[in-house]
Amino acid sequence: MFQIEIDGRECEADQGSTILEVARRNGINIPTLCHHDGLTPYGACRLCIVEVTQRGRSRLESSCTRPAEDGMVIRTNTEQIRECRALIAELLLARCPSSARIQAISQELGVTKTRFSPLNEDCILCGLCVRACQDAIGASAISFMNRGMERKVSTPFDIDSDVCVGCGACAQVCPTGAIKIEDVGDRRYVRYFNTELELLRCSECGRPFTTKRRKTQLAAKQPLPDDLLCLCQTCRRKRLASSLRTYVR
Ligand code: SF4
Ligand code: FES
Repeated sequence: MFQIEIDGRECEADQGSTILEVARRNGINIPTLCHHDGLTPYGACRLCIVEVTQRGRSRLESSCTRPAEDGMVIRTNTEQIRECRALIAELLLARCPSSARIQAISQELGVTKTRFSPLNEDCILCGLCVRACQDAIGASAISFMNRGMERKVSTPFDIDSDVCVGCGACAQVCPTGAIKIEDVGDRRYVRYFNTELELLRCSECGRPFTTKRRKTQLAAKQPLPDDLLCLCQTCRRKRLASSLRTYVR
């Protein structure tokens, strides 16, 4: 354990914690957009910048990626930082003007309109979907492609992914709502990634509830009996409750 100073307060930090984590543990709010507690930090949006002073030198750094170090002095809300965050918000707003989340976060930073021409994109390249697919699901079905203006998130060669399990984690974490999961009959469509999967029906109630590939992936990871994996959450809960009742009777 060691001490760092954030906005004039002495805060305890441990090896490996980021500045953002220490600040949050101490109730100090720093805006973030591309950060998710369960995923590897990536430092894409730069909204979480703070001023870090160490050995007499000050720099602006992203607090979600910067590990805390003994004796650091951090300031999270100077005029320069507010101006930088406002500029970033303007750029994000120009990139994705119709995203409700971008509008909301910009407003929180005092930005209601942008001086830049609208690009009308739906993706801010935050990489949350890529990290969720890789870190949380272990599928690595999508990744960043191309460079510069052409940079985007996609499946290899932009075609139907044969490793996507259709879990929907990418859509859940996407801050702009670019990715949508659509179930039609026995098919699940992840159109943003040109991917289509077969749905599995619950063996009890007959409702489609997951994809066949997701079930296969879970079966390989979890020691659950196959008949439980073929049940939707509601039927699985009912089945477990009734087994428990029989057991305690
Ligand atoms: S699709 Fe969504 S989650 Fe993925 S990089 Fe773009 S904005 Fe982020
Ligand atoms: S939250 Fe730190 S760079 Fe996006």
